[in-house]
Amino acid sequence: MDTDAWSERLRRVPALAGPLPGFDTERAPAAPGVLFGQWLTRALDDGVPEPHVMTLSTVDASGRPSARVLLLRGFDPDDCAFVFATDAGSRKGAELAGNPHAALTWYWPLHGRQVRITGAVEALDRRAARRDFLGRSDASRIAGFTGRMSADLASPEEYQEGRARARDVLAADPQAVPEGHTVYRLRADEAEFFQGDTGRFHRRLRYVRDDGGWRRGLLWP
Ligand SMILES: Cc1cc2nc3c(=O)[nH]c(=O)nc-3n(C[C@H](O)[C@H](O)[C@H](O)COP(=O)(O)O)c2cc1C
Repeated sequence: MDTDAWSERLRRVPALAGPLPGFDTERAPAAPGVLFGQWLTRALDDGVPEPHVMTLSTVDASGRPSARVLLLRGFDPDDCAFVFATDAGSRKGAELAGNPHAALTWYWPLHGRQVRITGAVEALDRRAARRDFLGRSDASRIAGFTGRMSADLASPEEYQEGRARARDVLAADPQAVPEGHTVYRLRADEAEFFQGDTGRFHRRLRYVRDDGGWRRGLLWP
């Protein structure tokens, strides 16, 4: 298919088809953490597929962005902070070590809702990493010990060898935690809630952290 054929095909795919929930921006909570909790609760209750999957965007030393999806592993509504876990030696880990500013994005198609968060990320202590890792399934812990995340992989065989080694490590010490396994916390300094509308009368509400509180205002969609 050429570009035009793709355009034609994609044009026929519906987006924001609805029915979609409303969003009364006048009655939105004063704090974005409260609103995020409400939207996430509704996504979980209504069966939005994998609503805890989010895109984390980071930048490298020359300002080039990179993005990938991760699982949201915790959330502090009072401080509007979001918790995720990864390997500090991964590409994202290296980028966050060089520049802690990052963005998180969710899209919940069933509700036509997008949430965008930006803020600074801090790495939590080893205790948090331990608790997170030891609470995982066997498969996830084996994966955590298999090779170096984001490093070049020479062959599928190398991967199998890494898995076998990981199983041995965990058989010898079921409480082992990979050195690089790290829990990160992104504290929002800005949060935007987008409610799509089937008639394209979308709503956008942005919160900006200000003097210990939150300033909020509408944005043109
Ligand atoms: C649904 C889904 C959930 C994922 N969750 C995580 C996660 O919680 N932590 C993580 O490190 N990688 C997760 N990954 C893998 C990342 O998308 C990514 O491939 C990996 O972290 C390496 O990213 P990097 O090279 O940019 O550091 C997930 C992938 C998918 C598809």
